[in-house]
Order: sequence, then structure tokens, then C-alpha cells
Amino acid sequence: MKSAALSAAILLAFGSTADAQIAKGATKFLGNITHQSKVRTDFATYWNQITAENECKWEVVEPSRDNMNWSGCQAAYDAAKTGGFPFRFHTLIWGSQVPGWLASLSTAEQLAEIEEWMDLAAARFPDVAMIDVVNEAVTGHAPFPHIAALGGAGTSGHEWVIESFRMARKRWPKAKLVLNDYNNLRWNVDDFIAIAKKVKAADPKIIDAIGCQAHDLSATTGQYTNPEMTAGALTTVLKKLNDQVGLPIYITELDLSYESDAAQEAAYKALFPIMWESPYVAGVTIWGYVYGQTWNQAQYSGLIKNGADRPAFTWLKQYVASKPNVTNPLPLTPVSVTPRQASIGSAKEPRLELSKDGNRVEAVFERDGGAVRTDVSGKR
Ligand code: G3I
Repeated sequence: MKSAALSAAILLAFGSTADAQIAKGATKFLGNITHQSKVRTDFATYWNQITAENECKWEVVEPSRDNMNWSGCQAAYDAAKTGGFPFRFHTLIWGSQVPGWLASLSTAEQLAEIEEWMDLAAARFPDVAMIDVVNEAVTGHAPFPHIAALGGAGTSGHEWVIESFRMARKRWPKAKLVLNDYNNLRWNVDDFIAIAKKVKAADPKIIDAIGCQAHDLSATTGQYTNPEMTAGALTTVLKKLNDQVGLPIYITELDLSYESDAAQEAAYKALFPIMWESPYVAGVTIWGYVYGQTWNQAQYSGLIKNGADRPAFTWLKQYVASKPNVTNPLPLTPVSVTPRQASIGSAKEPRLELSKDGNRVEAVFERDGGAVRTDVSGKR
């Protein structure tokens, strides 16, 4: 057994509790997000899955055409690699934080840009665990505005969603591909189910799971009044989603926002176990954990306030530790893929590589006189 002095020395040397993630060793992950565009240094102390809050969104990565900035997204991906836990890419096709410059392009050019966006993301993150391929497609939520480039409504009414999944699957054969939406646990549930069913019916191999963001479950007052979602209603809707869509569910953006510590703790106690213990749910991601640094419509959802754990957090840690063996409908195994650079072509055939500045995909032809590089971004 380690002596107290030795333990103290190890703590000093390695900085600590970094491996004591709340759900470490459990059958499901309990994840969280970056804060203010950064991975907090205490992230891996608590969480064993990461999503970038904003840094992998198209507008953030490519604010002007062909001017890529992957740094924030890459940092979240690197944190997952270092920590040995899964990374969720959020998101490929969404109607918010879409690059403004896309609007002035022709439909054909928009498609080429979408292809390039996905090519660059796939070249950089070939082994990503989960991808929110399409986000908030339900009418009235935030569907992608340039759907004509992806085939428009088509006969199914959502051909553009189906095509987005086809395009993602071509690039990520092994990632869990997810149709994610805003509070689809409460609002427009049937509309969401209809879209998910269309994608699955088009080709069951292109979609792996559905994502339920789980914002707005808290009781709210003011402009939008909303009673807290009941445990019974949550149980019912998870079963309905499973029965009707027949795909595993991720809770992707949970934020129980209460100024009162007692109210937040009560909400966590009522709702979190329904998600964690649901046989339909494959993992839970909380949307922020530091009070005062969460998005403006869930400003009281933080779990750490003034450096101290709020009661809900104290309870959450104990609860998850007491329930490590819950049923998971879609266990994640590390995605192992040979990087595209190495997998395509032999020495004498062209291979694909990311350009040095990270902005283009290039075909590299080895010749006697050296390598010849051709930009093939968007050509497929
Ligand atoms: O980075 C700029 C900064 O330079 C500028 O000074 C400042 C002025 O407003 O804005 C900053 O950008 C803000 C960005 O967050 C980073 O803080 C944007 O205005 C703001 O709109 C953006 O909000 C994000 C929101 O998505 C945008 O739709 C929230 O942080 C983020 O939590 C939220 O996340 C979404 C999920 O992606 C999808 N589901 C809903 C969820 C909550 O809305």
C-alpha cells in the first residue's frame, strides 16, 4: 500500500486527481464541453468525453473562404486523445454559425465547399468517435439554409439531410454518425422522429444514433415560461424515440439551469438518473460546468461556483460512482483507422495528404524527381 507521503509526492509531481473522472470505468461516458473556446485544465479531472462548444462549427473554423482556423477544434480533439476518451465533432451541417460567405455562391460552388469542409475535417480527424452530422434540422429550429446544394427537400422532404449523412459516411466509415436536435425531448418530437426515420430508411448504414440536446428541461420564468420536465415525461419520450426510430440515443447538451442550489440539485436527482439508467441512452454530455461561463439561456447551469462544487455536482459524482454498470445500447470502442495519408495508394500511386497550412487536401504523386502535389479539395 502507498504511504501517505508517497501519495502526496505523486500528487505534487503529476498534479493530481486528473484521472479521477466521474464516469471512469463506467459503461457510459459522462462528458462536457470546452469553455470560452478552451479546454479547461481541470477537464479530465471530471469528464471522459469532450465536445467543443463552438470551435468545430463551420463559421468558427472557416470565417472567410479558405481561411481555416482549426486550432480550437484541434485542442478539444487533442484533449480527448491525451485523456483516452471520445471526441464528438459538433457539427457539420447546421443553420446557425454558418459561414456568411456561402450565401453569395452558386449552388454548385456551395456543394464544392461542403465537400471541402467535410474532406478537411475527415483528413484532420479520421478517427473521431461521434459526429453531429446534421444539427437542428426540424423546421423552426435551425435547419441549414443552403439545402438546395445538398439536393433540397426532394421526394422524401429531407433529401438534404440524407445526402449529408451519405457524404459523412463516405468520409468516416467507422464514426458514430448522429442526427442531433434542440429540445427534441419536448418539442416537435414527432417532426424529429419523422426525419430520423427517413435517414434510416434511406440507408440504415449511414446513421448510428440520434442526439437529444436536452436544453430547456429546467423550470423557467420570464419571457418563456416552462415547467420543469417531469421524470415520467422523460421516461416516456425516451421510450417513444427508441420505439419509433430504433436507434440509440445520446444526451448531447444537458443544462439544468437554476440559480438556487437546492432547485438544481432536485432537478439533477429527478432527471439525470432517467438518462443515465435508460437502456436506450449511450452517453451523456453536459453543456458547461463552470457557473458564469455557460451559454446565456442556461446561465445558472454551472456545477462549480466560485471554485466550489454546487450540491448537484456533489450528488452527481456520488450517484454516477454508485451506478457504473448501466446498460449501454452502443458501447464505444476506440475508432482505429489508418490515417488517410497512409491508407491511400502505394509508394508509386497518389496518396491524399493535408496541406502544410491545413487548408487543403492534396493528392501527392511520388516521382523520381520528388513529390508533386495537386489540390483536390472539394473534388470527389
Ligand atoms: O467569439 C465572439 C466574440 O469575438 C464576440 O466579441 C462576441 C460578441 O457577441 O461573440 C462571440 O461569439 C459568440 C460565441 O458564442 C462564442 O462566445 C457568439 O456571439 C454567440 O452567438 C455564440 O453562442 C453559442 C451558440 O451556440 C451559437 O448558436 C454558444 O456559446 C453555444 O453554447 C451555443 O451552443 C448551441 C449548440 O451549438 C447547439 N445547440 C444549442 C446550443 C445552445 O444554443
